[in-house]
Amino acid sequence: MTHEPRLTPPLAKGHISVARLADYWYVALQSNELGPRRPVQRTVLGTPLALFRDGQGRPAALLDRCPHRNVPLSLGRIHEDGHLECRYHGWRFDTSGACRAIPGLCDGAPGRAHNATAYPVRERDGLVWVYMNPDAKEVRGEPFSFEERPGYTTVRGTIDMEASLHATLENILDVPHTAFLHRGLFRKEATTEIEAEVRRGPDRVEAEFIGEPRPPGIAARLLSPSGGTVEHTDRFILPSIAQVEYRLGEENHFLITQTLTPIGDHHTRIFADISFRLRIPGFVLRPLLTPVAWHILRQDAAILRAQTENVRRFGGEQFAHTSIDLLGRPIWRLLREAERGELRSLDGGTEAQRVRMTV
Ligand code: FES
Ligand SMILES: [Fe+2]
Repeated sequence: MTHEPRLTPPLAKGHISVARLADYWYVALQSNELGPRRPVQRTVLGTPLALFRDGQGRPAALLDRCPHRNVPLSLGRIHEDGHLECRYHGWRFDTSGACRAIPGLCDGAPGRAHNATAYPVRERDGLVWVYMNPDAKEVRGEPFSFEERPGYTTVRGTIDMEASLHATLENILDVPHTAFLHRGLFRKEATTEIEAEVRRGPDRVEAEFIGEPRPPGIAARLLSPSGGTVEHTDRFILPSIAQVEYRLGEENHFLITQTLTPIGDHHTRIFADISFRLRIPGFVLRPLLTPVAWHILRQDAAILRAQTENVRRFGGEQFAHTSIDLLGRPIWRLLREAERGELRSLDGGTEAQRVRMTV
């Protein structure tokens, strides 16, 4: 028998920063995970989806529940006609969710009541995106698009975090933890005073670090052996994009774009795209950098899991904020405003604020 600590009511506060933004695009899976023969199940915002490709290879996403007897459609297969066939009684559905065949039915034809629920889908940049409002008359905007970057090397990968979307976003874009959690890998303990400018735009918030010295860790030393300052911006774009951008000198540009998918309230999948153009050729650096990047992400995964477990154990969050926790709260405000449909327009402009900190 395990003994959970007994908490008195003042310790157990109910709030956990979970926002569920339905009217947005999220990555369901990578293009190469979706083959021509079998549907694949993925969960986005707690909603199980059956994804498949039709006869022409076009991707589709249906709610993973057959309208007939509610068996998961993802257990089915792709019929020769390109429709998704349910495993149980063989009803077949097209990419719009319309029921196209009910085997054995002689009188009548499939009607609207027999249709499955379909979600808008886009495939681009090697990713399959799903718009998480099946009832939307039209989609609002298009998925995030990756810029073409000729001459850049790109490394991609996915990692799951046992943490809310908000906690994961904050972690990716948080500087002060790097000296401790990732000790020796990119920053030492803070000694140089710099300024950070936090800018809020209509759908984003970013922090630009001004006068940041080249970090002393091995990752940075590989990039810029001669030192110098870096241009560094951390950026959040609604609903779930986290970008970290570094320029070291003229030649080195690093752009890490992490597209996050809230699988559930406390489970977030990161699709990471690390693009760089460096002094050292990409093919030399790639095998050196890739294991370091994954090591860092695994350290983040472990600390986020511990944070999530503890917040749950204590029944909610009780965070103490400081001015150098730059983006956690602005990200939360954006998520909440978006969830409530109350995004401030800022008249197309930005709001900026300067903060002093040491890095
Ligand atoms: S449950 Fe799907 S066809 Fe019957
Ligand atoms: Fe980290």
